[in-house]
Order: sequence, then structure tokens, then C-alpha cells
Amino acid sequence: MATTADTDAMRRAVALAARGLGATSPNPVVGCVVRDASGHEVGAGHHERAGGPHAEVNALRRAGVLARGGTAYVTLEPCNHTGRTGPCAQALIEAGIARVVYAVADPDPVAGGGAETLRAAGIRVEHGLLAAEAEEGNAAWLTSVRLGRPYVTWKYAAGLDGRVAAADGTSRWISSAESRADVHRLRAEADAVVVGSGTARADDPHLAVRGVDGAVQPLRVVVDTEGTAVRPGARVLDGAAPTLIAVAEDTGRTDSRADSGRTGAEAEVTGRTEGAGAAGGTGVEWIRLPRAAAGGLSVPALLAALHERGVRSVLLEGGPTLAGAFVAAGAVDRVIGYLAPLLLGAGPAVLNDAGITTLAGALRLDVREAVRLGPDLRITATVARPAVPAAGPGAPDPDTATVPAAQDPRTTGPQAPGPHPTRPATPGPATADPAAAGRETAVVAPKES
Ligand SMILES: NC(=O)c1ccc[n+]([C@@H]2O[C@H](COP(=O)([O-])OP(=O)(O)OC[C@H]3O[C@@H](n4cnc5c(N)ncnc54)[C@H](OP(=O)(O)O)[C@@H]3O)[C@@H](O)[C@H]2O)c1
Repeated sequence: MATTADTDAMRRAVALAARGLGATSPNPVVGCVVRDASGHEVGAGHHERAGGPHAEVNALRRAGVLARGGTAYVTLEPCNHTGRTGPCAQALIEAGIARVVYAVADPDPVAGGGAETLRAAGIRVEHGLLAAEAEEGNAAWLTSVRLGRPYVTWKYAAGLDGRVAAADGTSRWISSAESRADVHRLRAEADAVVVGSGTARADDPHLAVRGVDGAVQPLRVVVDTEGTAVRPGARVLDGAAPTLIAVAEDTGRTDSRADSGRTGAEAEVTGRTEGAGAAGGTGVEWIRLPRAAAGGLSVPALLAALHERGVRSVLLEGGPTLAGAFVAAGAVDRVIGYLAPLLLGAGPAVLNDAGITTLAGALRLDVREAVRLGPDLRITATVARPAVPAAGPGAPDPDTATVPAAQDPRTTGPQAPGPHPTRPATPGPATADPAAAGRETAVVAPKES
């Protein structure tokens, strides 16, 4: 049974991890807290950006010699491989850490196995503490590892009658200034922001982050089958962030644009950057994708192309037609609706044809949060999916766990992101290393009185 002090330390590590959102892809967000042998915090840190030191290394640096004999609380199993930085398991061993408590097992077959290395070095290893909270914080990265596609948050702003634009197509400023500022935070946490050609035409959106200190700009993506929506002078071409325009592979219309780079919208762009990715430059890239049978571009192909570019989280900003295609493809993980206290009476509904024809086919959601933002209400819901099977190294040991961490009354996080109910289940971390099951002690959070 974990102590209250253990839970407090892990909760702080989860909060630290969240500071890395939007800056670490293709890596996970990770937080770490180090306490000395007497239980005093002597170091804390998080993974701040891809290529930079991992959370454990940052925390151990701050702790110095005081880490010796202490406990490290980490939101993700310490990595075991040398990438751009050295293995964290080794850093913990060298620092003289006596006990490691981590929340979630690393499902990455390349980086995983750190727990075993730690145990082999004589370190006490426990896992599962605040696993649900840590999973929620790392939903983007875990989803991408498990499903091979980015985690998708669909965001919209609507009046209370569920319309996202007026009859004449105007939709700017449906929501309040507070909600709009909040959207910039969402953009800052995402690797890519996606809109369809209808929104590009109607709103000429900018899609970059403004007003968030230190934000890494997301990749701006316009899904424009025929390559006709992004016109010269469009705001997404202003160089404030990298831009990707997805067109059909057989669209002759864009040949000249894509190949010569000197006509159409692209003629506006200087310093075109081939391969600009989530953390790339600020140029414009065109990619060609297969068409979907139902029209438009293939959503899975788009997500695969983004994943290949290191994108682990997508903020889908609409509009209703593209959002419908994402829902139909089983490619929405979270929905954030900003509901403004106004009625439009006519105009497009939030979601267009999503392939749902009867109530039994409705996509069920779990409401996670409802908060007031100025005059608006922000509702956050995640797609209700079966939990990842609770077995293996990432799950509490059923023999020793009396109260699973996920049932901690203070744990409000969702179930692990999993596959869409209509898709075959993808093995999660629980099945990554069955041989490791039961080799460690599962820690569980104490009940709050
Ligand atoms: N309030 C809000 O939150 C909000 C947000 C966004 C938009 N809006 C409003 O929504 C309206 C635009 O709606 P919309 O539905 O036309 O915009 P949209 O969803 O952004 O764009 C739809 C277009 O995307 C293209 N597309 C490419 N691949 C697709 C696929 N797989 N499935 C579906 N479409 C695909 C299609 O045109 P091509 O195939 O020809 O490229 C399609 O017509 C505007 O009035 C805008 O102001 C409101």
C-alpha cells in the first residue's frame, strides 16, 4: 500500500509532466520527483522538449548527492535505451536511488524494460500508483504507441442550439474571449491543428498559437482535396508556424503548385520547407493522399502521414463535415465543446454526417469536466472505450493490490485511451511483456478520508 506521501509525490510528478505538453513529441510527457531517504523532496523535473534531458535526469541533477538512498517517483517507467539521451534506468542506478515508483509501464518495445534493469541492480521497484491520472496526462503519446496514429481532440464552439455558424456562414466570435484564449492553450498543447477546406474558405483561420508564453507552434494542416481552398495571402501561409496542405494524389490541379512551387497559394510562400514537421520550420509543405470512398481525403491516410512526421496529438478544429469524417473513421478520442449562450436558429450543426443513422449507433462519450469560461460552458468528454486489459507489467498485481490505483476516489482520470469500439483492439502495454507480470510490486493509493 502506498503512503499518502507517495501519492503526493506522484501527483506532483503528474502535474510536472503536463508542463511538457505540446513540446516533447514524438516523446512522451514525463514528470519525476526525487525524495531523499528521510522523505524530503530534493529534486523534481520534467521532460521539457524532444531531444532534451529526460525527466529523471533533470530531477536527479537538481537532487545531486542527496538522491543517494532516496526514492524516485516517475509518471512513466524509466527508459532503458540510449536515444538522443542516455537510458534513465542507468542514471537512476548511478545516482544511488534505492526505490523507484512509476505510474505507467512503457509500452514502447524499444524503450521499455527499464524496471527490470532497475530490479537487477537491486533497486526496489513499484508501479501502478496514480496510473489513471498519469495515463490521462500521457494520452496522446500512449494512443500513438498503441494505435499507430495521433490522439485526436475535436474542438468546436456552438450556440446552445448546437449550431457552429449562422445561416450566412459567419461563425467568428460565437464563443467568448475567455473561450478563445483557452483554445490557444489547446493549440499550444497539440502537435498539429487541422481544418477542412470548407473552414479554410469560410473563415481564413490562422491556426497558430497566440498569447501562450513559450509555446511551440503546432503544425497547421488544411485538408483541401482539390488544392483550391488555400488562396494566396491566406493567413495559414504567414510563416507564424509550419503549414501542411493535404491534397488528393490524383489532383492535377495542384501539380503545378506542388511541383513548381511557383503558382497558386504557394507562390506567396518564401522558403518553402519540404518535410516541415511538428517541430519543423515555418514553411509550407504539400502532401498527396488517397481519396476516401465517401469523398474528400482518407482520414486514416492523413493521420498516418501526420504520425510519420512525429505528430502525436491533433486538435481538430473542424468544421462539421471533416469532423463527421473523423468520427466515422473512429478517429476522435476527445471532444471539447465551447457552448455559448446564444441561439442561431439556422446554419450548420456541429457535426455533419458521421455515419450514424440510429440511436443504437451513437458514439457514447464520458463527460470528464464541465467548467464555466466567462459566459460560456466548456464540456470535455472522451470516447467511451473498453479499458485496456488489466494484466501485465503496467497493471497492479492482483495478488497484492487491495485497492487498484484507478479506483482511488481522488483519481478522476479516464480509462486508458484505447481503440474505437468498432475497431479491433490493439494490444496495449498490458500485453507488451507478459513474462514480466508479477515481477514487481504494484502500489496502490491510500483512500482519502
Ligand atoms: N464554430 C466552430 O467551431 C466552427 C469550426 C470550424 C468551422 N466552422 C464553420 O463551419 C463552416 C464550414 O463547414 P464545412 O463542414 O464546410 O467545413 P470543413 O469540415 O472544414 O470542410 C469540409 C470540406 O473538407 C474537405 N474534406 C477533405 N477530406 C474530407 C473528408 N474525408 N471528409 C469530409 N470532408 C473532407 C471537403 O472538401 P474538398 O474535398 O473539396 O476539399 C469538405 O467539403 C463554416 O461556416 C465555418 O465558419 C465553425
